[in-house]
Amino acid sequence: MKTRIEPFVHGVSMLGLKAGAAVMPLPWPRTFEGENPSIDLCRLIIEKKRKSVLFVTSKTPVRTGLVQPLIDELEAGGVKVTVFDEIKPDPTVEGIEAAVKVLKENDCDSVLTLGGGSCIDAAKVIAARGRNDKPILKLTGMFRVTKGILPLYAIPTTAGTGSEVTIAAVVSDPVGQRKLPVMDPRLMPRAVALDGKLMLGVPPHITAATGMDALTHAVEAYISKNALKRTDEMAVEATQLVMSNLETAVADGKNVEARQHMARASHLAGKAFTQAGVGYVHAIAHNFGALYHIPHGRANAIVMPYVLDYSLPKCAGRLAKLARACDMGELNDSDDTLANLFIERIRQMNKTFDIPTQLEELKADDIPRIAKAARQEARFTYAVPRYMSQKICEKIVGKMLVA
Ligand SMILES: NC(=O)c1ccc[n+]([C@@H]2O[C@H](COP(=O)([O-])OP(=O)(O)OC[C@H]3O[C@@H](n4cnc5c(N)ncnc54)[C@H](O)[C@@H]3O)[C@@H](O)[C@H]2O)c1
Ligand SMILES: [Fe+2]
Repeated sequence: MKTRIEPFVHGVSMLGLKAGAAVMPLPWPRTFEGENPSIDLCRLIIEKKRKSVLFVTSKTPVRTGLVQPLIDELEAGGVKVTVFDEIKPDPTVEGIEAAVKVLKENDCDSVLTLGGGSCIDAAKVIAARGRNDKPILKLTGMFRVTKGILPLYAIPTTAGTGSEVTIAAVVSDPVGQRKLPVMDPRLMPRAVALDGKLMLGVPPHITAATGMDALTHAVEAYISKNALKRTDEMAVEATQLVMSNLETAVADGKNVEARQHMARASHLAGKAFTQAGVGYVHAIAHNFGALYHIPHGRANAIVMPYVLDYSLPKCAGRLAKLARACDMGELNDSDDTLANLFIERIRQMNKTFDIPTQLEELKADDIPRIAKAARQEARFTYAVPRYMSQKICEKIVGKMLVA
């Protein structure tokens, strides 16, 4: 009986979420693309008369010379810049608190960040702590950034998470060995720059994994039951951009055009999933990340073909539309044929990127708890096209076991 009621309750809850997403206004950031978007962003900070900026980044961008031109621009405009370059992948509560100390010591009135999702997430929480005098763990959860955040400006250097347009920041709590989200529309940056030139040094395996994360956002947002006309447009464009640029960006990292297209793809996919949500690919992949420390995009890439295979009977038409938008198949191909071509294309991209079909780290004994946690994450929040029972979820995760 339970198995019959669960999908029904899930469906009703999704209708509520969809109605909410359709009317909820989100404070989207001003977005610079153009010739020199990161300099344009600095000029905006000067124009807004910010006096003291905390520049949140990590060692690599400083070492590779990405940071200095922006500092020069800001200082020439009379803005004091304090650099905090200690952010590590998957930022921790402690690491973020160290930056908050520097923010306060330097009376910073705003935060600028340049880096991957880890830097942007850290900067969101630092900016939130600038206004909210409470421990970070009290900011985690929904709508707990009650006093808003200091003005935040973001320049992504990976094309993947879309964190510059999401209402979330993920912090790691090493004490409890957990990853905790802070979720609040007030985390949204004021303005962002999409600057492919800053991504030229990202190594191929990171370009591939982060790019597959962006593709997962686009696809899961598109097949979501919460998809809206506006999220469809963004998800389709993002999918097209990834399909026509990711292989080039991985093989020829210095190709500015491919990098710029990927920056836009990640941004659009981020906007799409912020409204339409993600699905079981993310729900399962998050658990691979938490248990085995598999990079988020790589985990998504491994899981995606299996979840799409399972979802196909309920979303063949949607996957076929994505396939058509990417010029796959022939004019008279059926939806099923096109949907399968689309999934096959993802398998082929994984192969090109040396992303395996199975997860070496996966242990058979872990499968029940992975399925349980993934289902719990998805339950009543992810508008998935085809519901999974515990048994089915275990079966799907089991397909990723190395035989
Ligand atoms: N806020 C959200 O909505 C959201 C969504 C999904 C994931 N996340 C979080 O984002 C983080 C992952 O972000 P990510 O995938 O962008 O990876 P990341 O920020 O952790 O960076 C991955 C690696 O790329 C390197 N790198 C970044 N920019 C570079 C550059 N220009 N040149 C050379 N190397 C560079 C970094 O040093 C790092 O080693 C995780 O903590 C995850 O939990 C956030
Ligand atoms: Fe993701």
